[in-house]
Amino acid sequence: METQIITINKSDTASSIREKLFQAGKIIRQGGLVAFPTETVYGLGGDALNPDAAQKIYAAKGRPSDNPLIVHISQIDSLDSLVSAIPDKAKKLAKAFWPGPLTMIMNKSDIVPSQTTGGLDTVAVRMPSHPVALEFIKQAGGYVAAPSANLSGKPSPTTAKYVIQDMDGRVDMIIAADDSEEIIGLESTIVDMTSDIPAILRPGYITQAMISREIGATDIDVTIFDADSGKAPKAPGMKYRHYAPRGELVLVEGRPDDVVAYINAQVRFHKERGEKTGVIGTDTLVTKYDADIVKNAGSRDEPVMAASRLYTFLREFDDENVEFMYSESFKNEGLEQAIMNRLLKAAGHKIIKV
Ligand code: TXA
Ligand code: MG
Repeated sequence: METQIITINKSDTASSIREKLFQAGKIIRQGGLVAFPTETVYGLGGDALNPDAAQKIYAAKGRPSDNPLIVHISQIDSLDSLVSAIPDKAKKLAKAFWPGPLTMIMNKSDIVPSQTTGGLDTVAVRMPSHPVALEFIKQAGGYVAAPSANLSGKPSPTTAKYVIQDMDGRVDMIIAADDSEEIIGLESTIVDMTSDIPAILRPGYITQAMISREIGATDIDVTIFDADSGKAPKAPGMKYRHYAPRGELVLVEGRPDDVVAYINAQVRFHKERGEKTGVIGTDTLVTKYDADIVKNAGSRDEPVMAASRLYTFLREFDDENVEFMYSESFKNEGLEQAIMNRLLKAAGHKIIKV
């Protein structure tokens, strides 16, 4: 398949953006696939109401078709037709956080094909805030099903370069956005709104505290952090090995000096064997690591930096053929909780306490 790549620049006027995205929207309306930017990660979009489009998405990603897709909308009113009823708490969260990086799961209506929801009676819905995403969804007819635009198992793409690497030849069009645009870099927070006390199934930029402030008590799915809980995750996608670089990643938790000493001892060991090493560290420690490649995740006081860079680091380690990677660990709260969740999955839950 020939993939058309179009670029939206800062210099584009509103009308030139509309013109470009009209073509993208037409592809979706005709049953094709378009990768597009959002404020979290790039999405791989198809018509959410067309069962064939969902099948095409699964094929393009190499993803199992029991893994349901998120339906992206461009105006809050579009939610009405996708779900059988909107719980009051969902109305409150939509008002507080849409457009933005929050996905809500509700009971689906009949217009949503079971192919889109992986056979479930519920549907995940999100209204993104990225202006290109909003205009594209509108032009596409208002309902775009989209997983992250990576091949299954790889880190989600946060720049067009990695979308092209994974999806060139597999989709009809890729919309590349100006990469200087500030993005969150981790996928949206997912909240299951079908129970009285809503539950977070995937942590993200919108934190448990932010959600509780709007609607009171909120649970968090235990399988997010505990690989040994013996329970199946409620978001089917969370069960797959994910976000993973090709080499082996290990997280290291402990006092800063101990973490540095442990990692440097490991690095020495690998170097003696001729193996290439990488480290992800925070700004006060990065100069202390002896690894071949050291990535600076920024300050612990501003985890937005680490969030926006994490997937790029994992992809770059692959590009640089790094075989053994170590990362400092993060706290289990706020935005750090989302960073830690993705790191744990990328590491296959390998964490060393020193
Ligand atoms: O930020 C995001 O959410 C990005 C951008 C593109 O919007 N999308 C994204 O999609 O991360 P994806 O497919 O990579 O992850 C969707 C997750 C999967 O873990 C899936 O199992 C879960 O959402 N999910 C979708 N529908 C669900 C449902 N009805 N019930 C439970 N989990 C659901
Ligand atoms: Mg994904």
